[in-house]
Amino acid sequence: MTGKKIYYKSWYMKKNNVSDAILQELEADPHVQEMKHYIQHGKVTTYEHCRSVARLSGRINERFSLHANPKTLMTGAMLHDFYLYDWHAADDGRHRLHGFTHAGKACRNAKKYFDIDEDVSQVIYCHMWPLNPERVPTSREAWIVCIADKCISLYETLFKRK
Ligand SMILES: [Fe+2]
Ligand SMILES: [Fe+2]
Repeated sequence: MTGKKIYYKSWYMKKNNVSDAILQELEADPHVQEMKHYIQHGKVTTYEHCRSVARLSGRINERFSLHANPKTLMTGAMLHDFYLYDWHAADDGRHRLHGFTHAGKACRNAKKYFDIDEDVSQVIYCHMWPLNPERVPTSREAWIVCIADKCISLYETLFKRK
């Protein structure tokens, strides 16, 4: 563990040395930091959103003793929305289908900037199920992130508006 201070201020944030170490390494990456420039829901940045999804994924895994692989779970969760653009920005219409296309984009970016394996790739690629109905999660890590993402998105949309 580095000396970096972490605040556990939400119900889904709880200390876990293994998960925290994996997350801290990812969070320090400049490409991951770039997610701080984009808004996900209300006033929440994509970086904060991914971090919350990772924390909740870790909590679900522990609480229900699901024995997910922590590296796959944390990496997949932190990079699940790693698409690196502002989907609210007016453009030529490319972002209009954001809900359907961003998981694929996030997956390509994750492969480009990180040495991710197929298991992590699956977590990212399937996180928008059932909006992408053909991409049914096939691993426990992918299911956890898919569920955590829905919970955090709802929470942010309802309670973290501008
Ligand atoms: Fe997403
Ligand atoms: Fe998300």
